Amino acid sequence: MSDSKSEPTGLDLTQGVAIDTIEDGKMIAGHVGEDAVLLARRGSQFLAIGATCTHYGGPLAEGLMVDGTVRCPWHHACFNLRTGEALHAPALSPVACWSTEVRGDKVLVGEKIESTASRRVARTAEMPQKIVIVGGGAAGFAAAEMLRRQQFQGSIVMLSDDDASPVDRPNLSKDYLAGNAPEEWVPLRGDDFYAEQHIDLRLKTSVAGIDVRGREVALANGNKVVYDRLLLATGAEPVRLPSPGMDLPHVHTLRTLRDCRAIIAQAGAARRAVVMGASFIGLEVAASLRARNIEVHVVAPEKRPMERILGPQMGDFVRKLHEEHGVIFHLEDTATSIDARQVKLKAGGAIEAELVVVGVGVRPRLTLAEKAGLAIDRGVTVNEYLETSVPGIFAAGDIARWPDPHSGASIRVEHWVVAERQGQTAALNLLGAREKFVAVPFFWSQHYDVPINYVGHAETWDELAIDGDIAARDCVLRYKRNGRVLAVASIYRDADSLMAEAAMEREAA
Ligand SMILES: Cc1cc2nc3c(=O)[nH]c(=O)nc-3n(C[C@H](O)[C@H](O)[C@H](O)COP(=O)(O)OP(=O)(O)OC[C@H]3O[C@@H](n4cnc5c(N)ncnc54)[C@H](O)[C@@H]3O)c2cc1C
Ligand code: FES
Repeated sequence: MSDSKSEPTGLDLTQGVAIDTIEDGKMIAGHVGEDAVLLARRGSQFLAIGATCTHYGGPLAEGLMVDGTVRCPWHHACFNLRTGEALHAPALSPVACWSTEVRGDKVLVGEKIESTASRRVARTAEMPQKIVIVGGGAAGFAAAEMLRRQQFQGSIVMLSDDDASPVDRPNLSKDYLAGNAPEEWVPLRGDDFYAEQHIDLRLKTSVAGIDVRGREVALANGNKVVYDRLLLATGAEPVRLPSPGMDLPHVHTLRTLRDCRAIIAQAGAARRAVVMGASFIGLEVAASLRARNIEVHVVAPEKRPMERILGPQMGDFVRKLHEEHGVIFHLEDTATSIDARQVKLKAGGAIEAELVVVGVGVRPRLTLAEKAGLAIDRGVTVNEYLETSVPGIFAAGDIARWPDPHSGASIRVEHWVVAERQGQTAALNLLGAREKFVAVPFFWSQHYDVPINYVGHAETWDELAIDGDIAARDCVLRYKRNGRVLAVASIYRDADSLMAEAAMEREAA
């Protein structure tokens, strides 16, 4: 999915398009020279922007127009049709804009115009001067980027105990691990970005504590960094199993680029791998290792993969899909021990393996927040502005439990797009905007050539309505409670997924 670009096909928009061929609220795809461009109609207005999503190249003209925005069909990034700005992640860079002109019964696309970011925060006397972000992942990066996009002039210090600058983490279990993407695709931005944007990114820097009264963070190396406002975005860490053998060098978890490099290094010589865990990461790893022609055994305690989140029908489909690609499942089983040659199973028997990847879930990294005395409830408790119980300290991403207006519950999720969007909202609020976090949760997962998209949040449901055919990879699953749609999963039904998201947004507005 990741490297396909929308090619400049269709109409040459500079030649003009008959106005009555574009319905109000709709878009058409075309091109201007080499550029794929979409032309959108809002009443009597015509707006033209680049048609290739700056995230992974999704075809924006196949997305959904919602008011003055267009949503990408692949992972729901949202662009402003007037300015080209990437308003909501996962796209972070704008698309270009073009001028339009109505001549008679035609609309013509003209000059390319530089895209601009809208200022969403009024400059006030209370503007902070020093912002510290703990975490160099999805939420931390998106926050830093948004602060500079909002022309924040003060200092941004970003502290990360990782040894790599912020990376496109979802790629680590997908294309990059499969060997289909070069490593230069993995960083969210090149090193020059941080220098140019005056973001003081300090890698291999562990934060040991927060002095809430003194407004400073203490680093593990003894140094201190003062802040006016603080964002905690410490993410999560993989759960390690208690089984003997977890510390052996061929046994890996996967969170960081370093983890991924270590798996790839071992994969070169491995004939057979055991993946522990049949969740999203475990199964994406299984698919990627199959792409490297490694025999893959998946060991997991559940009866069906992903049943808890996606239901039994999708669980059966996912299992079959992996089996068609040669994955061997050992479900309702666990490992009792791992040694240098094999993984012993509780149900009896053992699997010889040169590589073991453990993907059995993550635990939010809450220690800093706990030690600082912030309110904790299975995550860092934040309000609708993503502010913690201590004014001036915000939290975003995998650690944050926020009041979700859609489900009406306080939820914590581990989704890339949610973390980035929370980082973006937190950035505005660090600057004093008081913007509520109202985005509908969204995640995607990729298994071979099958993408699964999911919008909303349903921990339990009393009805699962299936529209289409899961086996034919053309379906929408609606998870409902008391007749109300809580979440929608889909395969190759991008328009339905986008419309479900827009409907959930309207419902909660
Ligand atoms: C391999 C993989 C694939 C994934 N694929 C998908 C996907 O397809 N779709 C999806 O929706 N989600 C996916 N996810 C989940 C998604 O990546 C996470 O939800 C997201 O990264 C959370 O962002 P975050 O900013 O909260 O945390 P992270 O991105 O984990 O960033 C946390 C940062 O905090 C730093 N840190 C933590 N504690 C300290 C400390 N004390 N001092 C200094 N630094 C600290 C860490 O080093 C790290 O830089 C995937 C996750 C993984 C691991
Ligand atoms: S390709 Fe557009 S959001 Fe991912």
